[in-house]
Amino acid sequence: MQIHDSIASFRAARPAMGRLAFVPTMGNLHDGHIALMTQAADHADSVAASIFVNRLQFGAGEDFDRYPRTFAEDCRRLEAAGVRHLFAPNETVMYPVPQRYQVAPPEEQTGILEGACRPGHFNGMATVVLKLLQIVQPEVALFGKKDYQQLMVIRNMVLEFNIPVEVIPGETVRAADGLALSSRNGYLTDTERAEAPRLHSLLSGIRRALQAGERDIPRLEIDALEELAAHGWQPDYIAVRRRSDLQPAQADEPLVVLAAAKLGSTRLIDNLEI
Ligand code: PAF
Repeated sequence: MQIHDSIASFRAARPAMGRLAFVPTMGNLHDGHIALMTQAADHADSVAASIFVNRLQFGAGEDFDRYPRTFAEDCRRLEAAGVRHLFAPNETVMYPVPQRYQVAPPEEQTGILEGACRPGHFNGMATVVLKLLQIVQPEVALFGKKDYQQLMVIRNMVLEFNIPVEVIPGETVRAADGLALSSRNGYLTDTERAEAPRLHSLLSGIRRALQAGERDIPRLEIDALEELAAHGWQPDYIAVRRRSDLQPAQADEPLVVLAAAKLGSTRLIDNLEI
């Protein structure tokens, strides 16, 4: 695997890559990332990944400083997954001057759910993804459905800025007990790790209820929030939304149920399509 720590190095190698599938990451790779790399290989001649912990998408008081950085192990896993190129810039390469021009996704997409809890997060995320796409120039880019709202914002950004890339979603990969894999799971204590699958099991319960014909969405959301709180969680939201734009939904359109909650000091997110 070639590791490019500069834009010039990546661009010089780009013509030989042919049709390229790209998987941007913040490192600390788990099986969910590796599944995206494998999926990427089905769409292109070669696969490139990036590792960059993007300060711009972390709020004040969030976990930028303690976000796990495991570069050597990540490289080993990428090699084993057949990834041929890694773009791994430092902050000076990505932000040589303060990033004054930023992508500002519309309020109706960023003022809800994750965006409401993490002001500025989607501006920082969309800005770095736009920069990465400009640098890497892939034909295809893959993003996991675990960050469902992120995927929606990126799809719309690509559409509205006419970026010549096909966005492909990857399914969430889960531990045997249902917990969605996430770099942040590593923050959980043993007791919290044993409790953490409750989030997925509550979402599964909501899905089962809706599939069985339940129509009282607010009741389902409130019951699940109360159960989380009763087990020591601090929930941010549990919301049944329409898949296309994550706005409040009628029960008879394609839906997704999304959740975010803190367990101890760790904030977990998850979702299930219904
Ligand atoms: O999902 C992530 O890991 C990040 O938000 C991304 C897309 C790599 C942008 O920093």
